[in-house]
Amino acid sequence: MDDPWMECMDHCIAVTQEAGKMIREALQKDISIKQKSSPVDLVTETDQKVENLIISSIREKYPTHSFIGEESVAAGAPSILTDDPTWIIDPIDGTTNFVHRFPFVSVSIGFTVNKEIEFGIVYSCIEDKMYTARKGKGAFCNGVPIKVSGQKDISQSLVLTEMGFKPDPKIFRAMMANMESILTIPVHGIRAPGSAAVNMCLVASGAADAYYHIGIHCWDMAGGAAIIREAGGVIMDITGGPFDLMSRRLITASSEDIAKQLAQKIQPFPCGRDDTEN
Ligand code: IPD
Ligand code: CA
Repeated sequence: MDDPWMECMDHCIAVTQEAGKMIREALQKDISIKQKSSPVDLVTETDQKVENLIISSIREKYPTHSFIGEESVAAGAPSILTDDPTWIIDPIDGTTNFVHRFPFVSVSIGFTVNKEIEFGIVYSCIEDKMYTARKGKGAFCNGVPIKVSGQKDISQSLVLTEMGFKPDPKIFRAMMANMESILTIPVHGIRAPGSAAVNMCLVASGAADAYYHIGIHCWDMAGGAAIIREAGGVIMDITGGPFDLMSRRLITASSEDIAKQLAQKIQPFPCGRDDTEN
């Protein structure tokens, strides 16, 4: 039987390539920065231009589909996941990297139907790595199959996370305490490359063994979630329960063993949800 979503996936790859080109060209020019919710939550004209390019191209071809895009939500659009075919878009994942020209900057798109992720695309556009995954069909980087490391022993693992300013000192301390309890297992190390979607692809391709994060968004996770699963990895909630795309938190790992050990070490702290006002 024909795959009904394959044509959408092909269109997604084409528009993501165009978006990546726009980002690389913008890196050659001056970048003017604006603040969003805090002094470390940045946005540029390019984030908005890239999201417009992606949404207008997809909407023209699929006028009945729904969208959750980071910059549209920032401008007041709803962020509620329904059963409709929905494109979840981060035009630039790693905006801070983009403004510093630190080379992990990606375009991330996940496509859901009945709230299930059907495919994910992450284009790490400075590295020119196009990660793709269609549910049930495997994960690829530039067309070459990828898989997780398969590591099961957390003490032999390289773990990714992201750390940053938190206005609430209690939350800041909780974030640091989680890092301390993981570093003292001990693990081989913790890295913070600065793009959640790239982090997931690094785990998917075996370059790291796990990635955990509290406080990201559905547009940071949707594309990478498909890639992790299809590369043979696991994705779960920070508590060890089922992954929830709107929950703003996740653990991904090369094996269930590592994911569960991390879940035991991590103390959750409040981060709100994408589908509520908080
Ligand atoms: C950010 C990146 C970063 C993470 C932040 C995200 P953005 O996304 O994924 O790795 O630490 O929490 O907001 O804002 O650059 O799209
Ligand atoms: Ca973004």
